[in-house]
Amino acid sequence: MLKVEGLSFSYGDFTVENVCFEVKDGEILTLLGPNGSGKTTILKNVYGLLRPKKKCVFVDGKDFPSLSLKERAKLAGYVPQSHHPPFPYTVLDVVVMGLTSQLSVFESPREEHYKRALEKLRLLGMERFKDRPYTQLSGGQLQLVLIARALIQEPRVLLDEPTAHLDFKNQVKILGIIKRLTREEKIAAVITLHDPNLASVYSDKIALVKEGEIKAVGVPREILREEILREVYSVPVQIFELNGFRVVMPVMEVTI
Ligand SMILES: Nc1ncnc2c1ncn2[C@@H]1O[C@H](COP(=O)(O)OP(=O)(O)O)[C@@H](O)[C@H]1O
Ligand SMILES: [Mg+2]
Repeated sequence: MLKVEGLSFSYGDFTVENVCFEVKDGEILTLLGPNGSGKTTILKNVYGLLRPKKKCVFVDGKDFPSLSLKERAKLAGYVPQSHHPPFPYTVLDVVVMGLTSQLSVFESPREEHYKRALEKLRLLGMERFKDRPYTQLSGGQLQLVLIARALIQEPRVLLDEPTAHLDFKNQVKILGIIKRLTREEKIAAVITLHDPNLASVYSDKIALVKEGEIKAVGVPREILREEILREVYSVPVQIFELNGFRVVMPVMEVTI
């Protein structure tokens, strides 16, 4: 379980203030909000790439940032928003690199590590790409490989930013995979999205983020309400109900 209690951070001209949420094992919490609202900054603070002002991130009750890199890498996996492959490593090698923090400086990955990497690629339907240079993958395939790399340590927490560059099919595919993984492996996941409808379908909880603050957090049907979405996105919306899910539609301001 992941607990964030009063996370605050500042870049100088942008501040994240008093962020609180809790994600149970097997649950997905979505940070939902417009561009620049602070979603990536919050995730980077949770993972420890940025340092929050005080102790506030707990994984299974442990003060997460104070743990060693090795312990942190074991507990949490992070899939960044964008990733530019620096070198044409094979897909299998990239997944094995997820174990780097577990190996000592002089230790090379062994057969058992490659076996684990293959297992994760299989889980994500990417096994057949194992020998392909990862510079030659599509955006969706690359994300699946990065999820496999994050999962190789069998983390308790997954932090993922499925990019908005993916087409609809790939977004749906990746979110479906994250949903299945969190349920089956009892992982607590925090993901970032900016589409309220995708958040409505895939999240157990939604935290609405605006200007570095969480405006509301709760189950999708509590959070996806007209007034609050209008406030967060500054556009008028209408909410419908379909098969038990909330559907968010923009209100068209021009008449044709
Ligand atoms: N390294 C940085 N230094 C200074 N400001 C930054 C940095 N990274 C992001 N910001 C600013 O912080 C704000 C929040 O950014 P971000 O967390 O990336 O938002 P989101 O992920 O919701 O789009 C933005 O105004 C952005 O310009
Ligand atoms: Mg972002």
